[in-house]
Amino acid sequence: MKISYLASSVLAISLAVAAACGGGQPTTEPPVETAAPSSDMPDPPATAVPTSEPAASASAAPTAETPPPPPAKKAWKDMTADEKKKFMATDVMPAMAKTFGEFDAKEFGKFECVTCHGDAGKGDKATFKMPNPKLPKLDPKDGFKKHAAKHQKDLDFMMQKVTPQMAQLIGAQPFDPATGQGFGCAGCHEMVKK
Ligand code: HEC
Ligand code: HEC
Repeated sequence: MKISYLASSVLAISLAVAAACGGGQPTTEPPVETAAPSSDMPDPPATAVPTSEPAASASAAPTAETPPPPPAKKAWKDMTADEKKKFMATDVMPAMAKTFGEFDAKEFGKFECVTCHGDAGKGDKATFKMPNPKLPKLDPKDGFKKHAAKHQKDLDFMMQKVTPQMAQLIGAQPFDPATGQGFGCAGCHEMVKK
């Protein structure tokens, strides 16, 4: 509401400015009619500038600062299977390929659906079911101590980059150990049974 009101008043102002400039009377004050939404008018100096350029950019400024209206994107959890596939391809893959590639270009130079999904991401009958049993099974005991010994770097990468980014991509809350809710390691990896 607020945004569209702003947008339309900006438009009205730009039109008014354009009209004023087009009128070829650069030194005059803006016509009174255009001042109708009076308090909304930009400062007189901006509109009174003789050339149309600064005036245009002055009136365009609010538009630039106004965040573009959020695209009517469906939430991940509300998507159909097809929409999820598409979203994975258009949003998750590029972002995650970059993240993994920056971490280890050699290992993750080839980054595909199966990198995360394993066998569930293969072929026509792919279900993309998570977690992926082909990923290492995780033992969360003592801060993943078991994995830290050999894979501290991977562990840090998983905790600091992959998990928060994945949660963000699908609009999920990060895993909260207190409640057991949210997106965490178990969104991709199986965990050992305690
Ligand atoms: C960076 C890891 C990663 C990559 C790469 C990836 N996905 Fe996913 N995908 C996930 C995760 C994690 C989930 C589960 C999200 C959740 O918890 O809801 C998921 C879920 C899905 C689902 C929904 C499955 C279900 O049970 O509802 C589909 C479909 C899917 N992915 C398709 C794809 C396709 C197609 C590709 C390749 C273009 C792909 N994914 C690449 C991590 C990945
Ligand atoms: C979005 C999916 C995803 C999430 C979430 C995720 N991982 Fe991973 N993890 C992967 C992928 C993909 C690999 C690389 C597997 C490979 O090398 O092919 C991996 C590898 C690892 C490895 C390296 C194992 C090895 O043998 O090199 C460890 C350790 C690990 N993850 C721990 C974690 C922990 C701990 C968390 C939670 C903080 C976590 N992961 C969350 C997808 C994920």
